[in-house]
Amino acid sequence: MGETIYPVPSAWPADALVNDASYHAMYRQSVEQPDAFWRDQAKCIDWMRPFTRVKETSFDESDFGIAWFSDGTLNLSANALDRHLAERGDAIAILWEPDDPADAHRAISYRELHADVCRFANLLKAQGVQRGERVTIYLPMVPEAAVAMLACTRIGAIHSIVFAGFSPDALAGRITDCDSRIVLTADEGLRGGKHVPLKANVDEALAHCPGVERVIMLRRTGADVSMVEGRDIDWHMAVAAQSDDCPAEEMNAEDPLFILYTSGSTGKPKGVLHTTGGYAVWAAVTHRYVFDYRPGQIYWCAADIGWVTGHSYVVYGPLMNGATTVMFEGVPNFPDPSRFWQIVDKFGVEIFYGAPTALRALMREGDDWVTKTSRKTLRLLGSVGEPINPEAWEWYHKVVGEGRCPIVDTWWQTETGGVMISPLPGATALKPGSATRPFFGVQPALVDNDGVVIEGAGDGCLVITDSWPGQMRTVWGDHARFFQTYFTTFKGRYFTGDGCRRDADGYYWITGRIDDVINVSGHRMGTAEIESALVAHPKVAEAAVVGMPHDIKGQGIYAFVTTNAEVEPDEALRKELVQWVRHEIGPIATPDVIQFAPSLPKTRSGKIMRRILRKIGENDVSNLGDTSTLADPAVVDHLLAHRPLLA
Ligand code: WTA
Repeated sequence: MGETIYPVPSAWPADALVNDASYHAMYRQSVEQPDAFWRDQAKCIDWMRPFTRVKETSFDESDFGIAWFSDGTLNLSANALDRHLAERGDAIAILWEPDDPADAHRAISYRELHADVCRFANLLKAQGVQRGERVTIYLPMVPEAAVAMLACTRIGAIHSIVFAGFSPDALAGRITDCDSRIVLTADEGLRGGKHVPLKANVDEALAHCPGVERVIMLRRTGADVSMVEGRDIDWHMAVAAQSDDCPAEEMNAEDPLFILYTSGSTGKPKGVLHTTGGYAVWAAVTHRYVFDYRPGQIYWCAADIGWVTGHSYVVYGPLMNGATTVMFEGVPNFPDPSRFWQIVDKFGVEIFYGAPTALRALMREGDDWVTKTSRKTLRLLGSVGEPINPEAWEWYHKVVGEGRCPIVDTWWQTETGGVMISPLPGATALKPGSATRPFFGVQPALVDNDGVVIEGAGDGCLVITDSWPGQMRTVWGDHARFFQTYFTTFKGRYFTGDGCRRDADGYYWITGRIDDVINVSGHRMGTAEIESALVAHPKVAEAAVVGMPHDIKGQGIYAFVTTNAEVEPDEALRKELVQWVRHEIGPIATPDVIQFAPSLPKTRSGKIMRRILRKIGENDVSNLGDTSTLADPAVVDHLLAHRPLLA
């Protein structure tokens, strides 16, 4: 099968930051002389006290540890704001587009953003927020979310952002895990014309979080919400009294920066902890090279700040690089499927970075929604969050980018802090569906199930063999879990959880998760979380959840449910369980299929045979593999005979 290869467009600027020759030279130096390479690259940000140490890392159990630039000091908020004031203070930092296109957009200069951040930082200090304290942020996509993040990092507080689509239960769990005393929220969020009751969710969550003393609430819609005396304060009223002068705290490079909860294959979501220096360098350097970014360019990453992509590529990376970053409150298909491209035209967006799931949904609506817009300012497109299928890639390239814009398909994870495998637009010939080559300092390898390294072309588990500056440093409150999760499956290597193929050109093709993590519309979820939500229902005895292929979402959620003996499962219960999971976790975890089963396939030792359930979920039942360890083969026959008809 012939593969289409798209060379770097001949019209791509000759002054690209990296071309093919320099990519190879820089990559070689980055892995052969990491100290020299990163000492140089780290100059892209301002240090208060320069570091002398660079890479001090080991993935081995005996001397396990990860530190970068450990004797340097800096402040990320100062890097994102203060350093631009002299030269670009009046340049636009954030261009905010509201959910409803009829409402006014906002353009906030670096100078204004700096003042807003200082005022809010002073408010946090006035509330007694200390260095190292955790602040939970549960806000919609409004500029104040960025203000809150930068205010925390300015005073050395650790932010923990919880995606505003999560349920009160999920929010409460995350507040409790990191022991936040303060929560930032809004009265309501607005998405696609729908109101999201954020304050009411917070109130419900806080019934389970006695440690929370203060809620600062932004008025976004003006909805009538209840305020708890002595606990809740109004954002704008409180901030008005604050000074716009707030010196940035001098932080050590290895001081914690933020926590972001993400799903793993087991247990409850883990608090991924990033630290200051390495993350700052990684976010800035990857943003600059992957997007070939030059100050002044209008750049739009359409991710939510509730996910890591929003942290690194809506806020921190672009602002450190002096970008004008577009922030969009709404959704791709509201009021109609032209919205993304209308925004591109409205602001003159040059670089657009989005998720395959949105592209697939828009592709289905037909080309007219795209072609009736101009998009003449676009020069580069990006993709993130899940594998992009070649069909969606070609559509993105041909229809959205009119064949002139390279696509950077960026593979990375919450844990990696920033992009790990990606084309560089001036350097890399593209193959639709491949994330292509490793970024500087990233040493990927493929191993088989026994940990034996696969050389050359082949298929295996994707591991990273050495540290990079943006790597997470620990799981909040559970360092043993950090080591256990990432460094014990394949000793001495970081295990990504992804499967991957490498072709004869050394290009990487991510094939998706090989653990019990599923990726629904680019949202990462552990099947275990959905299972525990289901079994929390009084009528459910047991549940097993697997991914299933889904045209738009990439993966859908297929749940096998065994009810308690006295319960007769029916359509009403199915609907009730769907609502239940939405309430327990959030709408992103809505099951697509619930199959009731009198029992689940188990081994004789009582372990659920997920491999078989996965095959059923994938509708790949002609060969179920080895079923000899099944305790009761009739269980599988029953499941196969009663599969729901899938559309
Ligand atoms: C998947 C999102 C293929 C992958 C930044 C990874 C991708 C998980 C890509 C991390 C890509 C992300 N191609 N798969 N370009 N980008 N993934 O932590 O399975 O939300 O392990 O970080 O998303 O999801 P997370």
